[in-house]
Amino acid sequence: MEITNVMEYEALAKEKLPKMIYDYYASGAEDQWTLMENRNAFSRILFRPRILIDVSKIDMTTTVLGFKISMPIMVAPTAMQKMAHPDGEYATARASAAAGTIMTLSSWATSSVEEVASTGPGVRFFQLYVYKDRSVVTQLVKRAEKAGFKAIVLTVDTPRLGRRESDIKNRSNHRLQITNLPLFIASITELTCFLNVPSYRFVLPQNLSLKNFDGLNLGKLDKTDDSGLASYVAGQVDRSLSWKDVKWLKSITPLPILVKGVLTAEDARIAVQSGVAGIIVSNHGARQLDYVPATITALEEVVEATQRRVPVFLDGGVRRGTDVFKALALGASGVFIGRPVIFSLAVDGEAGVRKTLQMLHDELELTMALSGCRSLAEITRNHIVAPWDPPRIAPKL
Ligand code: FNR
Repeated sequence: MEITNVMEYEALAKEKLPKMIYDYYASGAEDQWTLMENRNAFSRILFRPRILIDVSKIDMTTTVLGFKISMPIMVAPTAMQKMAHPDGEYATARASAAAGTIMTLSSWATSSVEEVASTGPGVRFFQLYVYKDRSVVTQLVKRAEKAGFKAIVLTVDTPRLGRRESDIKNRSNHRLQITNLPLFIASITELTCFLNVPSYRFVLPQNLSLKNFDGLNLGKLDKTDDSGLASYVAGQVDRSLSWKDVKWLKSITPLPILVKGVLTAEDARIAVQSGVAGIIVSNHGARQLDYVPATITALEEVVEATQRRVPVFLDGGVRRGTDVFKALALGASGVFIGRPVIFSLAVDGEAGVRKTLQMLHDELELTMALSGCRSLAEITRNHIVAPWDPPRIAPKL
């Protein structure tokens, strides 16, 4: 069956992946209200297309932090992609480079910054979780710099992990019946990072480790006993992270810093004052605090608060070219996609991710043509109408 949109990959991935892995990728926090709202909010924004404009040529290229890319659609950091497909982050890196766009590598990737860099040219960002042990963070950032990564994406919405109840259920089921130990270990690693569960005694298999930590001086970790990693990490992620740490991060790296997880005008203003290079409006794919608004709903207040001093990006629920257009019309400089990459990776490896990026590219191009926009700069607020807009009254003749 021909795949005609990125959402179809999710259903296929669900058939293909073990339930526990699929649930880990798909789920949101608690009632999953925000998870649904990330999609529903897009559907409440409608178009005001302009007609009879020569759209025989459409230019979708844009520049992000000085890097020219083919389209305003980039790849969000998602942890442990080798659980989806053996090629994991390698496939995502190659597909993103082939599409001419930016890939963000997660701190908790199953491939290291060096391994991802070895796939060849491509503009890549590195997503950072800040550990209490700042020497670990410094080493990681230096390695990312050396491997040619172009920016640090600092995730700021995760002092603790949100409650994803299917993960909790699956975890207790699998305590009793673990049928696939390597996959199980990888899936709980992210949880144990935050849940402070010190007593897991698993051996991280060679083929599925959090590869970015392999080369680091992991302090007290007993390297002969890999089972110490989960408990080491659990104690290390820094819940006290604050704005002063953004300043510290700036002091240790010349790379531009994007803060990922801003949802309010208040924080957008502080982010600008802190000297960040950009903001990603994100609710972590609805996996952290439930009942935060859809990112597309929060976007405009963040954009306004920045007074256009830094670029603002968005992720969360982007599944259609029309979604991308709506985000741009509300002031985003580009969007990132998370789950569509994972699900297409699970179904068809690199080819799947390529197809996902191509489909979104083509859909955005078509949306632009049908709205009368020949370039991204021509997409304006007047091309959409949002539920929070005042009623439009036809001008008196
Ligand atoms: C994530 N996300 C995430 N973010 C981050 O900063 N570091 C990470 O390691 C991860 N890992 C991760 C794993 C999985 C399975 C998911 C679904 C998400 C959040 C991610 O970067 C992004 O914010 C959302 O995925 C965007 O929403 P959509 O596109 O998935 O709806």
